[in-house]
Amino acid sequence: MPPSIHLIYASSSGHTEYVVEVLRNVLASAALTVQRAEEAQASDFENGDVLILGCGTWNTGGSEGQLNMHMDALLRGRAKDIDLGGKPCAIIALGDDRYRYTCRATEHLMQFILQHNGTTCATPLLIVNEPYGQEEKVRKWGEKLLSVLAKTA
Ligand SMILES: Cc1cc2nc3c(=O)[nH]c(=O)nc-3n(C[C@H](O)[C@H](O)[C@H](O)COP(=O)(O)O)c2cc1C
Repeated sequence: MPPSIHLIYASSSGHTEYVVEVLRNVLASAALTVQRAEEAQASDFENGDVLILGCGTWNTGGSEGQLNMHMDALLRGRAKDIDLGGKPCAIIALGDDRYRYTCRATEHLMQFILQHNGTTCATPLLIVNEPYGQEEKVRKWGEKLLSVLAKTA
């Protein structure tokens, strides 16, 4: 039985969305469902055996190094009281090295997972600068994730 994966992402200039599209092909052998953070509710975190959260680093709230505003609204708002119940989780974080807190979204996503009783099942996928040309990195990460999940199934 392939693992079911629920991926929730936010993307303002389309970079995370592009990474998710590359990943879709790699994770085709898993039962993958993809949802935008704007459309997700607390109950959606129950979907899938595995949860992937993905977004870029933004200046949400006025200071740099924050989550994308839509992911922030979901994790710190609608989903603030969820219990992941030990669910395996993975992170996709984007950023740009022109900013001081490069890819800081990683830390916010990790904090959310740990504070809500999730477990990490893969090293975070970090995409610094535009994702175009970084497809191989994304593919390798997806393949590694599938192999880890196959071993734990
Ligand atoms: C206003 C603004 C603030 C940003 N702040 C940061 C930041 O603090 N750290 C960082 O690494 N990248 C920062 N970025 C870069 C984005 O994280 C990066 O472009 C990312 O790929 C955007 O992903 P998305 O299009 O999926 O939202 C910022 C970009 C903009 C336009």
